Amino acid sequence: MQFQWEQHCHDLQLVMEDNTIKVHIIDRENKEHILEGPTDMSMNIMELCKAYELPVIGECGGMAMCATCQCYLESDTPLPEQSDDELDMLDQAFYVKNESRLGCQIQLNDSIDGIILRLAPEA
Ligand code: FES
Repeated sequence: MQFQWEQHCHDLQLVMEDNTIKVHIIDRENKEHILEGPTDMSMNIMELCKAYELPVIGECGGMAMCATCQCYLESDTPLPEQSDDELDMLDQAFYVKNESRLGCQIQLNDSIDGIILRLAPEA
């Protein structure tokens, strides 16, 4: 019985790990946070940061209209092309670099497992 229970817990853990990725966020004090993000809840980076109470405002709720979720890509993780909306918003934002992305436009999925992002300064 004990063995079956342990096996069940082990299987459950594997199932949970299957739907989880690691996201590295470097905050504005240069401290790294390793977040576990679910890939089956249609979540994005901005929402994940807020869930972990990191200082990301996400004022527009993820509509690519505020840039309060801006971050810099610091890993060579391939990301989808930026939409026109994201590019337009970054055109108007402060502290924009070549590596700038809007966290709300990066969906959590297996292809970004291990991604490293640095929070942009607050505008
Ligand atoms: S939350 Fe507003 S642009 Fe990302």
